Amino acid sequence: MDDSIVHARKAQQEIVKVSVNNEKEREVLRTNFHLPPAPPIFYGRDEIVQIVISQLVPSQDEKQAGHTAILGTGGIGKTSVALSVIHSPAIQAHFQEHRYFIACDSLMDPDGIITALATAFNISASGNLSSRQKSVLSQLGRYVGFVGRPILIFLDNFETPWEPPSTRGQVEEILSNLAGTPNVTILLTMRGAERPYGVPWSRPFLPPVSTLDNDSARKLFLMMSDVPEDDPTLFELLDALDNLPLALLKRWKMERTAMLNRGDENRLTNLDVSIQVSLSSERLQISPITLSLLQILSMLPDGAHTSELVAMSINHQDVPGAITILRQVALVQESGSTGRIRMLSPVREHLRSYYP
Ligand SMILES: Nc1ncnc2c1ncn2[C@@H]1O[C@H](COP(=O)(O)OP(=O)(O)OP(=O)(O)O)[C@@H](O)[C@H]1O
Ligand SMILES: [Mg+2]
Repeated sequence: MDDSIVHARKAQQEIVKVSVNNEKEREVLRTNFHLPPAPPIFYGRDEIVQIVISQLVPSQDEKQAGHTAILGTGGIGKTSVALSVIHSPAIQAHFQEHRYFIACDSLMDPDGIITALATAFNISASGNLSSRQKSVLSQLGRYVGFVGRPILIFLDNFETPWEPPSTRGQVEEILSNLAGTPNVTILLTMRGAERPYGVPWSRPFLPPVSTLDNDSARKLFLMMSDVPEDDPTLFELLDALDNLPLALLKRWKMERTAMLNRGDENRLTNLDVSIQVSLSSERLQISPITLSLLQILSMLPDGAHTSELVAMSINHQDVPGAITILRQVALVQESGSTGRIRMLSPVREHLRSYYP
């Protein structure tokens, strides 16, 4: 996660002032929240930012806006898009100060989410999970009722609590309850290509965040590097790196040697950690063929069609299911134009270094 987010999370405790007379009610309305700043450098995401804004702010004939999930590969720029959205003038005007950020990357289960909500909204609840869940959600509902205005809850990295299959149902139930609270709008980011079940997500679904377009990647690269604008290898380099956001890409370039230094966990980059998390996901573990498919794809920069991957594998019938899993955890993508399944080059590099 970005340093600025960590700082923002630790640094601020803000009190929401709502005009209610009753002192007791005032007490309930104190919330601990912190909003990380908008990304200082942000290129080429105008279209997706506008789509998300239009999904979150209701049109004239709608009472309440829809909920939106920003999906995509680790490090592709989901949080940056979300932060840019929540600091946009339209979202500020609609939700005003009622924009809440909850980092979910360390919340491992339903209990973690309930505790994080209780902390963020300064709600106290005791007892077992089920009674705390009821109590926190109903107090939150009362809080939103007191506020009497639309509130936006931004859940960043929701894949962490959502991923374990054994508790996914409970996590989805909490999210569904939250999303069903009148006046609450949910914005979440999640690695992968799947949305949690049980929430009326805005339609049409937002497509996963893609890599930057050539022009934006080039501008970003020129701004962050000392490469001259007319360097003939510039396009080749960007192409080889799949136009990944440059802050990350630059680090990847610098630390590539360290990444290749196998077995030294301390030297893993954020990108490496993100890929490792996807690789160790339970969904991959239950389908062993996924790793051999990844190894094949790591040798094919232009990817391959599903039928070719079937032909290359021993367990033919398992291949389509395994490709679905790999797409869900965003380790591979299907090209819209060619239909080929391929991986972004840093994932390819990682596979070739750690799983040759
Ligand atoms: N459009 C952009 N322009 C410039 N830099 C960007 C852009 N998008 C992302 N970045 C930078 O790329 C890095 C990764 O972005 P971000 O944290 O938004 O990705 P993410 O998809 O949320 O990652 P994760 O899956 O780890 O949560 C950050 O350093 C961010 O500042
Ligand atoms: Mg993120």
